[in-house]
Amino acid sequence: MDNVDIEEVRKRLEEAHSVAVLTGAGVSAESGVPTFRGEGGLWRNYRAEELATPQAFARDPSLVWEWYNMRRETLATIKPNPAHTALAMLEGRVEDFTLITQNVDGLHEMGGSRNVIELHGSIWRVRCTGCSAVTENHDIPIAIPPSCGECGALLRPHIVWFGEALPGDAITAAYGALERCDVLRVIGTSGVVQPAASMASVAKGAGAYVVEVNIELTPNTTVVDKTIAGKAAEVLPLIVGQNL
Ligand code: OAD
Repeated sequence: MDNVDIEEVRKRLEEAHSVAVLTGAGVSAESGVPTFRGEGGLWRNYRAEELATPQAFARDPSLVWEWYNMRRETLATIKPNPAHTALAMLEGRVEDFTLITQNVDGLHEMGGSRNVIELHGSIWRVRCTGCSAVTENHDIPIAIPPSCGECGALLRPHIVWFGEALPGDAITAAYGALERCDVLRVIGTSGVVQPAASMASVAKGAGAYVVEVNIELTPNTTVVDKTIAGKAAEVLPLIVGQNL
């Protein structure tokens, strides 16, 4: 981690009227939430196509719910880390701030962030496969198979699975923020899942200064203005600081 880089990013943030942030699983890593790819990643031990597709749910909803129950159990004891709180602090200082996250763990809201777009949904919400009603549900474990209180049909996680479209309102709000931001920070994402993978390019193309924070190089590294190598929970508090 280079202090000159940290200073430059701090200065850019100080001058910015509009800031957008895109986060991925790496921002929650220091809280103890497993990432998807890389060492210890969920997709190293589980097959995504058996658990995170509409076809998998149609084939065996109980198996899919068991997997989400396991993840709910892991998340139940987990707390936001200094990366989440630094982003919440930054939001309080910037006129126009949007946090776009691919994470479904709810840790940004728990850490105090307010304007959060959950691109991939939330593990703490369920959706009825019959009447489409979306409700909060924090049961651990959720009773399998869960049924809708309104119409009795099967409930599914309110999560975007592989092969499914992202919610239109979330996409519209995210692209609006990317196109008007002065600074975009891309934190802890491997940059391989669309459409989030293209968001650095969208903001860069619209004139933003784009900064990546990651422990490794990613496809975004060649697009951004600056990559700060390091753990989000260590780098973000340094960038946001106490005296901005
Ligand atoms: P990945 O697991 O693909 O990538 C995590 C990224 O975080 C990697 O680039 C790591 O190098 C980086 N990383 C790990 N620890 C870090 C730390 N302490 N500080 C900073 N960076 C760190 O996760 P995502 O990019 O979020 O979709 O994955 C995108 C989507 O793929 C997920 O939302 C999920 C998955 O399939 C759904 O479930 C719909």
